[in-house]
Amino acid sequence: AEEQTLSIIKPDAVGDNHIGAIVARFEEAGLKVVALKMLQLTRAQAEGFYAEHEGRPFFPSLVEFMMSGPVCVQVLQGDNAIVRNRELMGATNPEEAEAGTIRADFATAVSANAVHGSDSPESAAREIDYFFNSQEIYPR
Ligand code: CMP
Repeated sequence: AEEQTLSIIKPDAVGDNHIGAIVARFEEAGLKVVALKMLQLTRAQAEGFYAEHEGRPFFPSLVEFMMSGPVCVQVLQGDNAIVRNRELMGATNPEEAEAGTIRADFATAVSANAVHGSDSPESAAREIDYFFNSQEIYPR
């Protein structure tokens, strides 16, 4: 089914000048960029976005990392977009990511893994709403 999913190009990949290469992966795979913006997250924004991970040992460093520089957030649209984006990203840990995936090619560590993607329809809805209002999304 046609879906929308939230993608974040994280501070490591933005800093390494990989925005265009990563967006090209999405477009070449047939996912459409229907919303896009760059921003530097506040602590409150980073903590709220990752609220489900609060209490995990990596949570404080995750929040610091996500605030460490600008990110690029996108809404991707397409058939089965949530799963397809996760296939394009590869495993959370780049050491486990299949060759040719975004994380295998652009990430350096599980804590600096280049991209985030929604993991379910419920999280996609929440995460899209977290960053975009309906007037900022251009479905096509
Ligand atoms: P992401 O898909 O953005 O969702 C949560 C993030 O926590 C994850 O990607 C990783 O970048 C980060 N993280 C840091 N350390 C760990 C860890 N040990 N296990 C899982 N995720 C981690």
